[in-house]
Amino acid sequence: MPPPGGHPQRHAKPVTDSSLEPWSIKRVLAWASDDFRRRGNPSARLDAELLLAEALGCDRIKLILDSARPLAEGELGRYRTLIKRRRVGEPVAYILGRREFFALPLRVDRRVLIPRPDTEVLVESALRETHDRNLYGRMLDLCTGSGCVAIAFAKARPTWRVVAADLSAEAAALARENVQRAGVAHNVAVLEGDLFAAVSDRSCFELITANPPYIPSGEIESLDADVRDFEPRLALDGGADGLSITRRIVQNAARYLSPGGLLALEGGFDQAPAVAGLLADSGFGEIARAKDLAGIERVVLGRKPR
Ligand SMILES: C[S@@+](CC[C@H](N)C(=O)[O-])C[C@H]1O[C@@H](n2cnc3c(N)ncnc32)[C@H](O)[C@@H]1O
Repeated sequence: MPPPGGHPQRHAKPVTDSSLEPWSIKRVLAWASDDFRRRGNPSARLDAELLLAEALGCDRIKLILDSARPLAEGELGRYRTLIKRRRVGEPVAYILGRREFFALPLRVDRRVLIPRPDTEVLVESALRETHDRNLYGRMLDLCTGSGCVAIAFAKARPTWRVVAADLSAEAAALARENVQRAGVAHNVAVLEGDLFAAVSDRSCFELITANPPYIPSGEIESLDADVRDFEPRLALDGGADGLSITRRIVQNAARYLSPGGLLALEGGFDQAPAVAGLLADSGFGEIARAKDLAGIERVVLGRKPR
């Protein structure tokens, strides 16, 4: 493949008479994976496949089935454009414009944080802890971003009324789009505002969830470039100790929860003890922690006393 930045033989191992070989699916994939790998990309092969499938408008299985097929010039051109974006660190989810969360295909772009698999633990915990109320309840998802948590919960609990809110008007616009596409517009409303200012003072919920920004400000510069340079700063920066938004949520949540109502919060890999402490200080009971797939305590839950 004529690569974005030079001839393949300057990067890849020489192949006998490679200049005469057609740029088949197999060959461009080997070249692109190798290029990504040498640039330190830990998911080089997967990224190369996802981007090629996007350029060709097919799924990844088809890349295997048709691996010997030579690519047309237009297909190579499209692939080259996508490779250039990934090479400068743009996350694959932004390039594709989508990311799966809780088996739901969501639209994502630079207006919102890319939903992470760890956050599925927040949804699972909220569903488990409210299963005795599966017929009716009210949920508020603060810091909703793409709307992933609110939409996944609403899909599982179609009879609940769900409010999703974010300070960013741009994020709220994308969350509304995702709500429509997921077919949950009948039970999810998306609002804008600074935490609880998005809802009326008289609002009352059985469940409040949030995955707030929780990276300490001083650590943002040392994040991976893919995150630091592409994801919204507003979605990352949790203030001096990473807990400034979490603290405000915990201190105000009880006013908006029904007696026995549940507060469920995601935090950073080392923040669970501190978040649990904040909940205890604000009078929450039944405080529990849930681990993510890597065994890290990721979610902290507490109930407003009855
Ligand atoms: C870590 S992202 C989480 C997004 C989404 N819930 C998820 O799990 O992928 C945090 C979100 O909080 C929003 N945010 C930051 N400060 C806020 C505030 N004061 N009030 C409401 N939302 C805020 C950001 O715009 C961002 O969308």
